[in-house]
Amino acid sequence: MNQEFTLNAMRTIVCQDAQGAAKTVAGLIADQVRQNPKSVLGLATGGTPVATYQVLIEMARRGEVDFRQVTSFNLDEYIGLAGDHPQSFRAFMDEQLFGQINIPIEQTFVPDGCASDIDASCARYEAMIRDAGGIDMQLLGIGHNGHIAFNEPGSEFDSRTRQVELTAETIDKNARFFDSPDQVPRHAITMGIATILDARQIVLLATGAGKADAVRNMLAGPVVAAHPASLLRNHSHVTVVLDPPAAAAVTELQQ
Ligand code: GLP
Repeated sequence: MNQEFTLNAMRTIVCQDAQGAAKTVAGLIADQVRQNPKSVLGLATGGTPVATYQVLIEMARRGEVDFRQVTSFNLDEYIGLAGDHPQSFRAFMDEQLFGQINIPIEQTFVPDGCASDIDASCARYEAMIRDAGGIDMQLLGIGHNGHIAFNEPGSEFDSRTRQVELTAETIDKNARFFDSPDQVPRHAITMGIATILDARQIVLLATGAGKADAVRNMLAGPVVAAHPASLLRNHSHVTVVLDPPAAAAVTELQQ
């Protein structure tokens, strides 16, 4: 049985385990697509959403959800990695989701980490999201330091899609996807906090004990740029989906 409560206006669902959390998030995304087959989805990379994408792939195979008319925008991309680089977020998405569902690849967008003019390309990305009608549902993970997408601590409330420098902690955490830490790019393109807050609905998924402090700061700490995820408390339609280890520090607050 899921446990559900509202903390600082954020709807929070604690599922039985990580797989239950993945099913819950996949269910929210599938409901969104069923309700509006032309939905614009905001998608995320990282280890956390992989199980959710797996559930969506299975649902699509069973004919329970149809992605043919969906458009998607990913949150971020490493600078310097082309889409065919195995560690690029474009390659990750093609492998983990797009290549296994019926979304036309030309309706999927990931920032271009190899654009010759990064600033112009970021402005174009913002315009493309606007032209698509804005994001209906944005999926997010959370970094150990509270980052969302690649909005590291200090990212401002009004930030938009831009080039950022990654923190040493983020480089270290993401090194597991590369052969060695020095292969992790130092810079990335990320949607900004304001870009994310423009989404009509936000679903944040966090699993594992390593995320417990970040989840607590997001839900119950001060709303400050030092903890970017806390800025989500300025949005009126956020659902936080957790497994019990990620929820440990907030379930205590409930008792
Ligand atoms: C990355 C991504 C974020 C993601 C975070 C957590 O740096 N840019 O979008 O939420 O890391 O990743 P993981 O799910 O692997 O813990």
